[in-house]
Amino acid sequence: MHTMTFRLLVAAGLFMSALAARAQQPASPAPAKRSLPPIPGLGPEPVLPANPTAAQLAEHKRLLAERTRIRWNYILTDSLMRARTLNEKPNALLVETVQGLEPGTALDADMGEGRNAIYLAQMGWQVTGVDVAEKALAYAQARAKKLGVPLTTEVADMAKYDWGTNKWDLIVLSYAGGRDYAAHVKKALKPGGIVVLEAFHMDATEKIQVVDGDYRVFFKTDELPKLYQAAGLKIVRYEEPIGTADFTKQQLRLVKMVAQKPQ
Ligand SMILES: C[S@@+](CC[C@H](N)C(=O)[O-])C[C@H]1O[C@@H](n2cnc3c(N)ncnc32)[C@H](O)[C@@H]1O
Repeated sequence: MHTMTFRLLVAAGLFMSALAARAQQPASPAPAKRSLPPIPGLGPEPVLPANPTAAQLAEHKRLLAERTRIRWNYILTDSLMRARTLNEKPNALLVETVQGLEPGTALDADMGEGRNAIYLAQMGWQVTGVDVAEKALAYAQARAKKLGVPLTTEVADMAKYDWGTNKWDLIVLSYAGGRDYAAHVKKALKPGGIVVLEAFHMDATEKIQVVDGDYRVFFKTDELPKLYQAAGLKIVRYEEPIGTADFTKQQLRLVKMVAQKPQ
């Protein structure tokens, strides 16, 4: 046999045996997603029956809302959970954005334990923080008092809250969602006012658990600028970087947006 033909046959044989060996190897398991440890007082996730009635749907929604309140009260006030999940510093996009701005009125929607609201109050902003988790708000109030800064807090569901009209110079949506808030934000900002939003990109669901099937803080590529532009805001800044999220220590794909209500 010609030497060149022989070499080609050997190379093809080696390639085929490598392929066969690879096919026999078990597929490497997908990396485990980060999930939360058990939370005291939080029962199993409620199951919606097939073909639910309106009453069953309403009860399911109520139970999920109650789970949100219990979960965040615990995560945001328990010292171990805080250390495990939370960046206790104010959100970096917010800090960059307000640098050099004249302080005014600010609404921190889904405020949590107040890291952003207290930062703004320290910078001279008049801040109202709203959240369903009453213990997180009490935590924020105690810290604001200790630091000697004024902070208004309200226990409320942002979906039912009166956001007001031309009321705020700044609205903060930090890991708060924003898919259902665009029209409220447009109406509630003063002309020239800005909204600062940071959350997870949908890609992050490959690495972290989506609790109770709630995708409110996960966004598809370009979903947010399209939504807020359609609501009548000007997109000042929009990025989808890989970075350390404020609510995990992992490197994940994030969404960051600053948008402004026209004058
Ligand atoms: C990931 S934490 C973010 C807290 C805060 N914005 C921050 O960045 O530190 C989400 C917060 O949203 C609150 N939340 C969830 N659903 C809500 C709703 N419908 N209305 C008001 N607050 C809500 C939770 O209680 C929790 O404090």
